[in-house]
Amino acid sequence: MSRPRLGILLSGRGSNFEAITRNVLNGTIKAEIALVFSNRPDARGIDRARQLGLTCATIASAGADRVEFDRKVAALLTDHHVDLVCLAGYMRILTGEFVRQFPQRLLNIHPSLLPAFPGLDAQYQALQHGVKVSGCTVHFVDENMDAGPILLQATVPVLDDDTVQSLSSRILEQEHRVYSEAIQWVLEGNFRIEGRRVLRT
Ligand code: GRF
Repeated sequence: MSRPRLGILLSGRGSNFEAITRNVLNGTIKAEIALVFSNRPDARGIDRARQLGLTCATIASAGADRVEFDRKVAALLTDHHVDLVCLAGYMRILTGEFVRQFPQRLLNIHPSLLPAFPGLDAQYQALQHGVKVSGCTVHFVDENMDAGPILLQATVPVLDDDTVQSLSSRILEQEHRVYSEAIQWVLEGNFRIEGRRVLRT
């Protein structure tokens, strides 16, 4: 039986992409990586993907029409027979048309305990707000930003001497663990969604 095919979308450093790839290679995630896509052709993550010999594609999004751009990306994912799309530091808000093409097959990770601190600079927002606990959230993507049903979360303490950098790296360690766990869970298909709740079946 052929393994499910992942499409990974990134815009930058790509450490979540690398963690997912490690877990695909060591068999923790039972899938193959069908396509790594970046809207920034110079992203570090896409360089790494090329070095690893993965199938890569880039289309520069700067100045592009959103609807047209997302149609091209969706077509690439379809052409590569992608079963599950994983956003991994993909710095774009997706069109509704794109999101509707991948029902329950589109995941994102965000570096806060959603619904707290959606959007940019979540770790900075957490420090500014003075929360004592933060973390990360893996969620299905819907048409609103950082808002779809939550699959998994992991928490970390916020320490008195934390900087954005120290808090981000503590959260990132959890991101690398929990995203793969969520991906494997979705691939196994033993969940159901009731309202906003993703429940194990
Ligand atoms: C991560 O913090 C992720 O939660 C957020 O963007 C960052 C991407 O980091 N969506 P990387 O490119 O995976 O290293």
